[in-house]
Amino acid sequence: MKILAIACSFIVLAGVAFSLTLPAPKKKIEFKNGQSFANCGRVPAACERSGKDAIRGCHPWHAKVTRTGRKSTCDGTLISKRAIITRAQCLFNLLDLFRPSDIQVTLGAFNISDPNESTRQTVRAKALIPHPNREDFCIICFENDIGIIILEENALTLNEHVSPICLWDAEFNPRTFANTVGEAAAWDPKGKLVRNALEVVAYDGQCYQKYNDAVKPLTSFCFRHVRTTDTACTIETGAGFVVKKDGRSYLRGLLDIFENEPLIVKGKDRGFCSSTVKNYIAEDLADYIDWIIDNVPDVSRK
Ligand SMILES: *[C@@H]1O[C@H](CO)[C@@H](O)[C@H](O)[C@H]1NC(C)=O
Ligand SMILES: *[C@@H]1O[C@H](CO)[C@@H](O)[C@H](O)[C@H]1NC(C)=O
Repeated sequence: MKILAIACSFIVLAGVAFSLTLPAPKKKIEFKNGQSFANCGRVPAACERSGKDAIRGCHPWHAKVTRTGRKSTCDGTLISKRAIITRAQCLFNLLDLFRPSDIQVTLGAFNISDPNESTRQTVRAKALIPHPNREDFCIICFENDIGIIILEENALTLNEHVSPICLWDAEFNPRTFANTVGEAAAWDPKGKLVRNALEVVAYDGQCYQKYNDAVKPLTSFCFRHVRTTDTACTIETGAGFVVKKDGRSYLRGLLDIFENEPLIVKGKDRGFCSSTVKNYIAEDLADYIDWIIDNVPDVSRK
C-alpha cells in the first residue's frame, strides 16, 4: 500500500534547488548505569572486519520474527533481555493485532535454514506493543511504523550468541547523521547470515526530494547500499540499522522498504529488489526512543 503510493508520488523537479529544513538536534538520553542495557552492543574483536559474510556470534541481537507456523515475516533487534524492536506492520494481520502467542522470535540463528542449530533460541511473545500513532494504510508516510515485542522475563538466556544491542546514547543530530555508515544483518536466500553496508543519504539528496516531505529527519531517513555487491534483496523489513560507536553497536534505525514487498504492477516487478533502485527508507529511532524506554520493562533512564 505504502509503496504503491510512493511510486505514484515520484515527481521530477529538475533544476529546482532542493533543501530540507533540519530540526534541532534531540538531546541525549542518560540511561541508568550508563548504557541502555548492561554489556549491550559488544561483540568479539574478530567481528571487526569488512566484507559481506557474517561471522557466527557477531550479530547476537539480530532476530527473526515469525508468525507461528508460517515462514518469515520480518526481522527485528533485541534491545534488552525482554524486548525486540521491529516494525508495527509485522505485528498485524491486516487491521488486527496478532495475539502474542501467534508471534515467535528466533535469536542466535546463523543459518536460518538449519532448524537444529545449537545456538538458537526460539520463544513466543508475551505482549505486542505497536506504536499508538501508527496509521493503518497511511499514504506516503513512514511515521510510527514501529513495534515492540515483549518476552517473558526468563524466556531468553543471554550468552555470546544472544545478547542485546545498545540504544543510542548520544545526541540525535541530523546534521552529523548524514553520510553515517551503518550495517544491517540479513539472511540471504540460502539462509546464511550476511551483512549489508549501508549509508545514510545526505538530507539534500534526491531521495528526500523524491519522497517529498514523507521522509522527515529524526523520524525517518533515506539510506543506500555502500557496496554494489550487497543486493537489496537480502535486506529485510524491521531489521536494525546498526551504527558502531566507541566499540559498541547501537540501534539507530529500522529498515522500512525492502525486497519482500516488491512493487508489482500488472504482473511486472518494478524493481525494488534490483540493484538499480538505490534508495531505501528507515525509521530514525530518534523520535521513538522515549516511547521505547517507556514501554520496555528492563530499560530505564537515569
Ligand atoms: C544451512 O542449513 C541447511 C540445512 O541444514 C544446509 O543444507 C546448508 O548447507 C547450511 N548452510 C550453511 C552455509 O551452513
Ligand atoms: C534436525 O534434527 C532432526 C532430529 O535429529 C533430524 O531428523 C533432522 O533431519 C535435522 N534437520 C536438519 C535440517 O538437519
